[in-house]
Amino acid sequence: MAKMWEGRTSGVTSKIADDFNSSIKFDSKMYKQDITGSMAHAAMLSAQNIISSDDAEKIIDCLGEILADIESGKMPIDMEAEDIHMFVEQVLTERIGDTGKKLHTARSRNDQVALDIRMYLRDEADEIISLTKALIGAVADKAEEYKGVICPGYTHLQRAQPITFGHHLMAYAMMLLRDIDRISDCKKRMNISPIGSCALAGTTYNTDREFEAEKLGFDSICLNSLDGVSDRDFCAELLSALSILMMHLSRFSEEIVLWSSWEFKFVELSDAFTTGSSIMPQKKNPDMAELIRGKTGRVYGDLIGLLTTLKGLPLAYNKDMQEDKESVFDACDTAKMCLQVMTGMISTMTAIPENMKKAAQGGFINATDMADYLVNKGMPFRDAYKISGRIVAECIKTGKVLETLPIDTYKSFSDKFDDGIYDAVDLENCVNRRISAGGTSVTSVEAQIEFVRQALAG
Ligand code: ARG
Repeated sequence: MAKMWEGRTSGVTSKIADDFNSSIKFDSKMYKQDITGSMAHAAMLSAQNIISSDDAEKIIDCLGEILADIESGKMPIDMEAEDIHMFVEQVLTERIGDTGKKLHTARSRNDQVALDIRMYLRDEADEIISLTKALIGAVADKAEEYKGVICPGYTHLQRAQPITFGHHLMAYAMMLLRDIDRISDCKKRMNISPIGSCALAGTTYNTDREFEAEKLGFDSICLNSLDGVSDRDFCAELLSALSILMMHLSRFSEEIVLWSSWEFKFVELSDAFTTGSSIMPQKKNPDMAELIRGKTGRVYGDLIGLLTTLKGLPLAYNKDMQEDKESVFDACDTAKMCLQVMTGMISTMTAIPENMKKAAQGGFINATDMADYLVNKGMPFRDAYKISGRIVAECIKTGKVLETLPIDTYKSFSDKFDDGIYDAVDLENCVNRRISAGGTSVTSVEAQIEFVRQALAG
């Protein structure tokens, strides 16, 4: 069949060119946005007396029917169409004849695609924000459950200082809160209407762009028509925010993989979020966490792919830009899936406090507290640090830990030691003395949980 743009050319294209050119397989996702955008456009054209109110009514009613028919499955979207914009217009014209042909006055597909993708992504952004909130809620609940459970805190993956498992979990809640912030911020710049840019240069018709923008829930309009149809920075911005979100999910997943290994055994994942091996009967694999870690690369790829597509494009629209959609759609779908899986995995995960405690007792992670004890007795920190290091070396040599080293041995390193040292190196005390804002003490973790819950509610 000849194309709607037949005229300058015969409109007859080869099958392979059609297949290559067509975007319907992925932009059909935006049918709702396309149809609502067209309804607002028809309403504007009539309000401005560019088309009659009778024509506008006919167009709007028919678009409503098309939407209902697609949603009910009565009319499948034709995968042979060039794109969703052409498909909708074609059906409209088939159904109401010449009146349908008036809809495309004072607009171009370049406007439509820029409009539809903004509308589609702002909804996706909202969904991703609410899924992230659900994950944060699950993390905060777990943190509350384990706010008093002592585990080693690491640097360089070496045991460093005692912390609570609740404190460790809350670090991720804070990161995820910022992810929400980033996505909401990006939405502000996305929610600006390009419709009425009219291919690239604006139009001679007396349009009312604000009217359309307002009808479609936009905050304002793009103030330069070339910019309106050419840039996809809002896609790149969303992809950046999603890449950072995925980076957080990936680090969290990596820790879950480590924690559920026999080497750590700090946590037990629920059977519902693990898999077995086809050959090794003993296996319980953290596939969900690994997949989230793995899919992070995909989202980074989506970001880099889009940036690369855009980097050499002269203004205004170029067909290369059709490539924008698959990357943002893929990144949104991936992020949504990962967030849901992560929420399920976290809320069903159980900690094994005995193993965490055992690990915490093993790595001299209270050595800083021993040094601080000497500082409190009037010794300069550098001297206290050196003596504490020697005591650790002595413990390693004699197979002792700071909690069990005899007082006489302590005294042989410094006469500042007395029985108070055992209180100072007691792991629970070590944790609960860290009352500085944002520290690991139970009261601080409680304050963090409270803060996060309020942020979620607000
Ligand atoms: N399918 C196209 C896309 O996704 C729509 C815009 C087409 N515009 C044009 N002038 N060919 O980018």
